[in-house]
Amino acid sequence: MTDFSALIPAAWEVRDLAYAPYSKFHVGAALLGSDGVIYRGCNVENLSFGLTICAERNAVASAVAAGCRSFSALVVVADTREPISPCGACRQVMAEFGDFPVLMVTKEISEETSIRALLPRARTGILDSA
Ligand code: THU
Repeated sequence: MTDFSALIPAAWEVRDLAYAPYSKFHVGAALLGSDGVIYRGCNVENLSFGLTICAERNAVASAVAAGCRSFSALVVVADTREPISPCGACRQVMAEFGDFPVLMVTKEISEETSIRALLPRARTGILDSA
């Protein structure tokens, strides 16, 4: 069983820093590095909507910039009725760094999944020599 307990408050905390003036939808992510450090990310929107960076990708970028490329858990939080799940772009970016457990959390409920379950066959065959 993965211990997500330190990640949950960290994800709620960073959610408060979300820059989401367009959607008003605030998301927080906390990523546990295998170095034991919790890397945080919130969504950062842009007037050019497609440039928006999700909370999950921000957490990954923060970890990589600190020298951490291996992860043991992710928590993503939003104040919704159903847990939100990472978008397709974030799934692909996280799958770059392997498989790890993911907990999707609301104020009421949480649901566990994994990177592999969210994005099966993310790496199969790509760049294999012919
Ligand atoms: N968003 C995230 O940050 N993570 C998710 O898992 C889903 C969506 C952000 C992107 C955008 O700023 C807002 O939520 C609405 O889609």
